[in-house]
Amino acid sequence: MSKALDGVRVLDFTHVQSGPTCTQLLAWFGADVIKVERAGEGDATRGQLRDIPGVDSLYFTMLNHNKRSITLDTKKTMGKQVLETLIRDCDVLVENFAPGALDRMGFSWERIQELNPRMIVASVKGFGPGPYQNCKVYENVAQCAGGAAATTGFDDGPPVVSGAQIGDSGSGLHLALGIVTALYQRNATGRGQKVDTAMQDAVLNLCRVKLRDQQRLERTGTMEEYPQFAEGTFGDSVPRAGNASGGGQPGWILKCKGWETDPNAYIYFIAQAPVWPAICRVIGREGWITDPDYATPRARLPRLMSIFATVEEWTREHTKFEAMDILNKFDIPCGPILSMKEIAEEPSLRASGTIVEVDHPERGKYLTVGNPIKLSDSPTDIIRSPLLGEHTDEVLRELGYNDLQINALRDERVI
Ligand code: COA
Repeated sequence: MSKALDGVRVLDFTHVQSGPTCTQLLAWFGADVIKVERAGEGDATRGQLRDIPGVDSLYFTMLNHNKRSITLDTKKTMGKQVLETLIRDCDVLVENFAPGALDRMGFSWERIQELNPRMIVASVKGFGPGPYQNCKVYENVAQCAGGAAATTGFDDGPPVVSGAQIGDSGSGLHLALGIVTALYQRNATGRGQKVDTAMQDAVLNLCRVKLRDQQRLERTGTMEEYPQFAEGTFGDSVPRAGNASGGGQPGWILKCKGWETDPNAYIYFIAQAPVWPAICRVIGREGWITDPDYATPRARLPRLMSIFATVEEWTREHTKFEAMDILNKFDIPCGPILSMKEIAEEPSLRASGTIVEVDHPERGKYLTVGNPIKLSDSPTDIIRSPLLGEHTDEVLRELGYNDLQINALRDERVI
């Protein structure tokens, strides 16, 4: 079956996580992604967090599926010539070097346009224009600067970063959307364009509800669904809300049977208004259905934490899966806290292709996260990540280089 991005060629100048997640998505949708790396070491993540000596790390393999790898020193004259050929041949260049690195290499936006006016040049940087535009940035810096850390955690603790890589993988997702949008516009204009995503912006976009809350707080001085409403005070900026839901339906994480020894024996419980009577019946508090202190969402707001404590008396008598089964019978929204071990072993995630087992010639079998975006006419096959420079000769031949020229590049340590 054909793939959505068949025929699109991507010059993948990305490294670490943010850029590679973007180009991996494009590859999953069928683009021919050619990853350009320096000979010897390649993408730094090949060697980081290794669990098997001398073998590409899981960090690398899980971010670089379905790509081809070529080695190229783009700071050498002959390497620049190869890069120019690639730029002429490809539709998209994706990079996430430190600010200015591509210019320093001699490939400014203007120069790339001269070489290929149809090329889309997509970049991830830590920050957009402003005081920090020249800074190097990693995941947690973006989470801190984008509003995630300040709004995550508990009121009496320090800011907390999330395990979800919203700075890196979040930026990669944003960038991928920008690229396919620019490809779509190119169909009408014939021109390429620049696509820029700043990690701070991507995180802030994902923290949009917190900027909503900042303005609500400034207008009203309070926010009824925050735990501070019942138990504390508000300052002048959005506080950390613990496990409060962040939406219009109050929720909290509650202990389940076994919590004393299992750090993930918890359930997320939502006291959704339409199912309030069912909640009361399940936990044996039928009186709350009509009690004016509990009967309406507004009456419950100042009592939320004590209500959750009462619900927890019930959840502690059940495992998280038992509680799920019972609550779901009554359409009460809830979710088990699943450990990574449980997720990795979940049969339905394997069946849907969300968790995939991949075979690698050097590391053997490993698990990865498959494409979370499922297209009915463009199914994703996960192909193992390339070894460093595995496709150098193949790609150079496609670009018109003969054996003599390839050997010369090798002799000069360009590839
Ligand atoms: N041939 C020759 N030189 C190459 C090359 C190649 N194939 N590939 C990279 N280089 C050079 C670059 O041109 C750069 O040279 P310069 O410093 O002389 O300009 C150099 O390698 C290092 O690149 P850089 O991006 O600065 O790497 P770093 O390891 O120092 O920094 C980051 C890593 C991630 C902090 C930085 O790239 C960055 O801030 N990127 C943007 C934000 C981002 O994506 N961060 C999240 C990463 S998950």
